[in-house]
Amino acid sequence: MIVAPSLLSADFTRLGEEVEMINTSEADWLHIDVMDGVFVPNISFGFPVMKAIASILRKPMDVHLMIENPQNYVSQVRDCGAAIMNIHQEACVHLHRAVTAIKDSGMKAAVTLNPSTPVVMLEDIIQDLDMVLLMSVNPGFGGQSFIGHTTEKIRQLKELISRSGSRALIEVDGGINDRTGALVSEAGADAVVAGNYVFGASDPLRAISTLKQL
Ligand code: DX5
Ligand code: ZN
Repeated sequence: MIVAPSLLSADFTRLGEEVEMINTSEADWLHIDVMDGVFVPNISFGFPVMKAIASILRKPMDVHLMIENPQNYVSQVRDCGAAIMNIHQEACVHLHRAVTAIKDSGMKAAVTLNPSTPVVMLEDIIQDLDMVLLMSVNPGFGGQSFIGHTTEKIRQLKELISRSGSRALIEVDGGINDRTGALVSEAGADAVVAGNYVFGASDPLRAISTLKQL
């Protein structure tokens, strides 16, 4: 399993140490949640913080933009050092144009779906995507409970990917722990995001190892 701890649940008074923990861990990517207070009812952090993190991080940055009009920020996200740019289908009218711009900039392009958005919305874009991020909570906050219907969506997405010949990975975000991680792994997920389960653990390195073994 690809494991992407979400920095949203980190101790922001010790951001450097938390990033150093990720550097020494088995984590594959660091997941960065950017919120604008419009697309979601919360505000997290923005480009200056991302840049500072990137300057000490030795793993790829998986940036999840919970913002309106994400297509306007492709070059800024790239300049912050992101490897993967996740944009919400619900936040972007001209999704094909945005995905093309992300790929042209040299980043991997991922499209995120809210829990209530059906997988079929990706039918005409799936071949262009490097990854699909399925939200297993309503975006905006860490520490929420996993929505069980997500496993069915993973199966539907897996079917769409194999039917279309796409090479997109499936990432799942929200309420992931050892138990829900096993459920999404069994349903066909390639990658999991985990905030509270990792940064709230007494031994975050061990929590990451547990998810790696799913
Ligand atoms: C939620 C964010 C998640 C969040 C996950 O809107 O997209 O990445 O940090 O946190 P947990 O794993 O605690 O649900
Ligand atoms: Zn996220």
